[in-house]
Amino acid sequence: MKYFKFAIFLSIIVFVGATVDAIVPGKFFDRIFLIIFENTDYVKAIQEPYLQDLMNRSNGLLLSNYYAIMHPSLPNYIATVFGSTAGVTDDNAYNISGANIVDLLEAKRITWKAYMENYPGECFKGDFAPPGTVLYARKHNPFISMVDISSDPSRCAKIVPDTQLDVDINTNRVPQFAYYVPNENNDGHDTGVEFAMNWFQSWFEPKLQNPAFTTNTLFFITFDEDAYGGNNHIFTGLFGCPVQPPDNHLDNTSYNHYSFLSTVEENWNLGNLGRNDVDATAFIKYLQHS
Ligand SMILES: *[C@@H]1O[C@H](CO)[C@@H](O)[C@H](O)[C@H]1NC(C)=O
Ligand SMILES: *[C@@H]1O[C@H](CO)[C@@H](O)[C@H](O)[C@H]1NC(C)=O
Ligand SMILES: *[C@@H]1O[C@H](CO)[C@@H](O)[C@H](O)[C@H]1NC(C)=O
Repeated sequence: MKYFKFAIFLSIIVFVGATVDAIVPGKFFDRIFLIIFENTDYVKAIQEPYLQDLMNRSNGLLLSNYYAIMHPSLPNYIATVFGSTAGVTDDNAYNISGANIVDLLEAKRITWKAYMENYPGECFKGDFAPPGTVLYARKHNPFISMVDISSDPSRCAKIVPDTQLDVDINTNRVPQFAYYVPNENNDGHDTGVEFAMNWFQSWFEPKLQNPAFTTNTLFFITFDEDAYGGNNHIFTGLFGCPVQPPDNHLDNTSYNHYSFLSTVEENWNLGNLGRNDVDATAFIKYLQHS
């Protein structure tokens, strides 16, 4: 009896240990890490030396024909997780019902987190934080607008302050779907794209040395919308070991923010949300699982 109980105890430990960090392998990558910047026309962004440098590296690929959905910010962010703008046409606070990408991910036990710079945590639902600043902005956090996340404490706890990322890298627990939103200075919203790319370089380069951040990871670098200068044509680039680019490092297929969802869905066979994700072209042309 004693041994029997001990055996059960042990198997529970093994079971919990095995499931917490189980990786669900994807067709092209095992992790996708999105980082999103703000309000820059394509023609301006492609002049940034750091973006040119990244795209020209052996595993960089510029998606030269990628478009945002509309203006202003919030509908674009919503598009990336919901598959439509949900009728939103401004930056106000909304509670949106219906399935989103988190439902599809969780159904396949794929881990996820949304890292928000300067987010106070604890399922904060206010418009801005910390008090007296506009560093964290709800309009750049689509997850908190999703009712089936904001009303579920365990899901809401997966929206975390950016400081959690270093903890997750150090413990090798970066989730398989990671969505990173810099604050309104570092994303260029209040500062411009030169500032944002200087920040990005100093933030990204040291992390690229760490396999807990890079292993089988597709980095997806995008902007929410243009600066009203070019029909919402925005810079978007892919980076990381799953990318096997052609010599010119360009994929000029027509893509938009819904392509992000269709790529994630196709990678893990998630099905779809039945919205604009269904017909969006996935950016898998130059991806290959290593
Ligand atoms: C590669 O670098 C060159 C020169 O800096 C630049 O003109 C070109 O646009 C870059 N390629 C990509 C795909 O960004
Ligand atoms: C959204 O739901 C929250 C409760 O989580 C509520 O406090 C808020 O007023 C709602 N906002 C809108 C715009 O309906
Ligand atoms: C990409 O395709 C568009 C037409 O859809 C064309 O106007 C543009 O010049 C192409 N860009 C490159 C870099 O080939």
